[in-house]
Amino acid sequence: MSTYSKEYRHDMRVRIDYNNMLTQAVGEHGIDPEEIADMQERMQAAFDGVNAKRDAMRWRDLYKTQLDIVDEIEETAEFVRNNCDNFVVLGIGGSALGPIAVHQALRHQHHNALSKDERKVPRLYVEDNVDPERMAALLDVIDLDKTIFNVITKSGSTSETMAQLLIITRLLIDRFGEDGLRDHLIATTDKEKGNLIIIAKRYNLRTFIVPDGVGGRFSELCPVGLIAAAVCGADIRAMLAGAEYMDELCSTDELHKNPALMLAVLEVLAMERHGANISVLMPYADSLKFMADWYAQLWAESLGKKKLSGDSMLHFGQTPVKALGVTDQHSQVQIYTDGPFDKTITFIGVDKYRVDFEIPHAFDDIPNVAFLSGHTLNELIQAERIATEHAVTVSGHMNKTIMLPIVNEFTIGQLIMLFELQTAFAGELLGIDAFDQPGVEEGKNATYALLGKAGYEEKLRELQNSAKKEEKYII
Ligand code: PA5
Repeated sequence: MSTYSKEYRHDMRVRIDYNNMLTQAVGEHGIDPEEIADMQERMQAAFDGVNAKRDAMRWRDLYKTQLDIVDEIEETAEFVRNNCDNFVVLGIGGSALGPIAVHQALRHQHHNALSKDERKVPRLYVEDNVDPERMAALLDVIDLDKTIFNVITKSGSTSETMAQLLIITRLLIDRFGEDGLRDHLIATTDKEKGNLIIIAKRYNLRTFIVPDGVGGRFSELCPVGLIAAAVCGADIRAMLAGAEYMDELCSTDELHKNPALMLAVLEVLAMERHGANISVLMPYADSLKFMADWYAQLWAESLGKKKLSGDSMLHFGQTPVKALGVTDQHSQVQIYTDGPFDKTITFIGVDKYRVDFEIPHAFDDIPNVAFLSGHTLNELIQAERIATEHAVTVSGHMNKTIMLPIVNEFTIGQLIMLFELQTAFAGELLGIDAFDQPGVEEGKNATYALLGKAGYEEKLRELQNSAKKEEKYII
């Protein structure tokens, strides 16, 4: 039972407007409402299918199960805040994109540049690559004495994260000795699988568990995301409550009342019947910029699948594209209006930005500039969102808008659950497994082979025998 009042939940509800996905708004390239009605049986099967698998989809219950460890996370967050100036997450994919997205959404947009007094919490770095220049750059800007690391890997074996861990562990042991490691390194991983849990036990590290049934890209609402959010001062209970609220909203099989199911049905129809192989997500808020990155992984890795049907191999999925309003109006919107009908565009709008910024008077004698004065940046960004939605709609391209009343923990929790459920329903509608990632595993295995990991000799031979590149095609 939520501790948030009915009024608060209502006022903070994330809303979906899908008018512009339909023929009446965009014409022949849109979805006919009859097509939605025709999906009734399939939709019901998908709804039932997702619910039947609820026990395996533990990510859907994180707002309940993780309440048990919120106190422990907050105690650890306090320890981190009291003992360091820099909090560094080592991880990749689902172990990094959620923490980045939530931090950008909830904290000051130049968080790391603020003074310690202004920040009140440590700087946050999320290192999700193995570019040597980036690692060197990180080490240039952090003082190890004042840094705590959180290594996150569900599998406990991802090469990139393990390489980072090796580098950091060596530095920490050289500086603080093996006994000092516990004060500088927190582990987040599976309770028994993989190598990180072995290392965590060996050095008695503070350890948080990624629960079973929670894949990387569905893990933001467990310690993977909650620790960094709590360290940086977010109200993680409110995030979980927002997720709970969205799960409630999506627990009806009445399609027109279930936002995630409706979004899934619309995207699947757009994909299957209207050639929309691209899904653009375009938030009109810098705070939500990295939610588009997080969504890109969720949508791509979950739905980008192949399946044998009779003799033919069927390929599924929509390529996600990240865009930012208004910035990408001056980069990508031209192709959203005049380009091919191969995409859906999902705008994210915000009713109330957390800051009001007035545009002052300075050039009142130049009418073409002066018209802006007296307005606010808030009015300008809203006008541009509405204007772009209009331009895309009149050009006949399917689009829809997700509106957040304001960006806060409660609405971010809703947004995360909304996209996760949309993805689960879409996977079920398409008849694919949205929770594995064989293509990613293939790349991971090939990397192990190339770097000489034992047990991957066969994979190495496969790589060595793959088609040789011809010089004449390299110019
Ligand atoms: O969604 C997923 O499962 C993947 O993208 C993983 O998050 C990513 O490959 C990192 O894996 P791990 O957390 O096991 O290091």
